[in-house]
Amino acid sequence: MLSAQDNEMITRTGPGTPMGEYLRRFWMPALLSEEIAEPDSPPVRVKILNEELIAFRDTNGDVGIIDNFCPHRRASLFFGRNEECGLRCVYHGWKFDTKGDCVDMPSEPAESNFKDKVKIKAYPAEDWGGYIWAYMGPAESMPELPEVGWAMVPESHRKVSRRLQENNFVQGIEGGIDSSHISFLHFGLPPVVRDDPARAGHSLSNKDTAPHFIVKTTDYGFVYGANREAENDSYYWRLTPFMLPFFTVIPGGSGNPDERTYSGHGWVPADDESCWMFTYSWNTSRPLNEGEGHGASFLEKEPRTMRAVMNKDNDYGIDREVQRTKTFTGIEAISVQDSGIQESMGTICDRTKEHLGTSDSAVIAMRRMYLQGCRDLLEGKEPFVPMKGSAYRVRSVADVMDKKVTFEETTEKVAVGAA
Ligand code: FES
Ligand SMILES: [Fe+2]
Repeated sequence: MLSAQDNEMITRTGPGTPMGEYLRRFWMPALLSEEIAEPDSPPVRVKILNEELIAFRDTNGDVGIIDNFCPHRRASLFFGRNEECGLRCVYHGWKFDTKGDCVDMPSEPAESNFKDKVKIKAYPAEDWGGYIWAYMGPAESMPELPEVGWAMVPESHRKVSRRLQENNFVQGIEGGIDSSHISFLHFGLPPVVRDDPARAGHSLSNKDTAPHFIVKTTDYGFVYGANREAENDSYYWRLTPFMLPFFTVIPGGSGNPDERTYSGHGWVPADDESCWMFTYSWNTSRPLNEGEGHGASFLEKEPRTMRAVMNKDNDYGIDREVQRTKTFTGIEAISVQDSGIQESMGTICDRTKEHLGTSDSAVIAMRRMYLQGCRDLLEGKEPFVPMKGSAYRVRSVADVMDKKVTFEETTEKVAVGAA
C-alpha cells in the first residue's frame, strides 16, 4: 500500500514534478531507429514524460528531438519539411537544426538577426541499440548511455519494438518485476505450455505457485530472485534484473547463458495515463531467426496510435471457452495478457487500496527506489543514477540449481560473461 501522496509522487512525470525530474536524469528510449531510418525521412511525433516532441534524422544522418511547437506561432513541426540539415516549419518557413538552432527565417528581412536569438527546445539524442534515446535532464547530470544487452550486439542479433499501453508506466514495471504472476496470468493448461519450448520454465513455475522472493540492491538498480521447489534437492531459480529507471530482462530459456535469447521491456511514460512499452530481444552469439524474440514484436497494432489491435475496446479478445478449457485468462498473446491486466487496474492504480504480500517484495523495492530518488531531489540532492554505461551489462537467469547454491551466488550469474 502507498499513501495517496506517495502514489501521486511516483506516477506524475511532467516537467517540474519530483518523479519527472528524477526520470529526466536517465536516457529515455523515445522511438525506434527504424521509424526515422533514412536521412531527411518524415519527422515522427513523440510524446514522452508529458512533453510533445518531434524526432527527425537530418541530411547528415544526425538525429534530433525537438519541441513539437514552432517557437514562432506554435505550429506543429510534425508537418515540417525535413530538408538540407534541418526541419522547416511549413507555416512561415522557419527552419531548425538538430541542436535547436534557428538556421533560416525567410519571413524576416535579410538584414535581421532575429534568427540568431530564437531557439527551439532540443534534447540530446542518440541512435543506440535500435532505439533513438533522448536525454531531457540537466547537462551536468548526464550519465553515459546504458550498455544494455541489445545495444551491445550487431543489428541482426536483436529485435526491438514499441507500442502504446493505456495506463501509467509504474503499472507496467510492476508487472515486469512480478515473477509471481507467470504461474497464473500466463498459465496455459498443459499441453499448451509444454509444447512451447520458449516457455519451458512455465511448467516448473506452475508446480510451485508460491515461490520465495529475495531482492538485492545493485549498481544498476536491483536483482530479485524467486526460487521454486524442483526435483532432486534443487530449486528452479528465476532472477530478474531491474535496471533503473524501468528496464527488465525476463528470465527464460535453457542451456549455455551466452547462447540464449533474452527479452525484456521498458516502460516510458507518454503522459501520466499512458506509456510506451518498449520491447527488446537479443542473442549475443548469433542473429535472431524469423519469429524469434518476444511476442510483443509481432502483435498487430493500429498504425497511427500504436495501440494493439486487441485492446480494452474489445476486452482483449477474451474467449471464455478457451478460459474454461485451455488457458488461465482466455486472452491469446502473453503480451496482451500483461497489458490487458495492467490497464484493468485503472489508468493510475489506486495504491491506497491494495494489499501487498510476500510475493510483492520486488514491487516494494522498486517503489522505495523511486520515492528515494524523488525525496533526494526535493531535498536538493542528486539522486542515485548509474553514471557508467557498463553497469547495465546484465541479463536474466532461469536455471535449476542445487539447493546449496545461495542467492548471493546465483546473483553472480546475472553479470554478462559469468558462467
Ligand atoms: S509558426 Fe512556424 S514559422 Fe511561423
Ligand atoms: Fe507477464
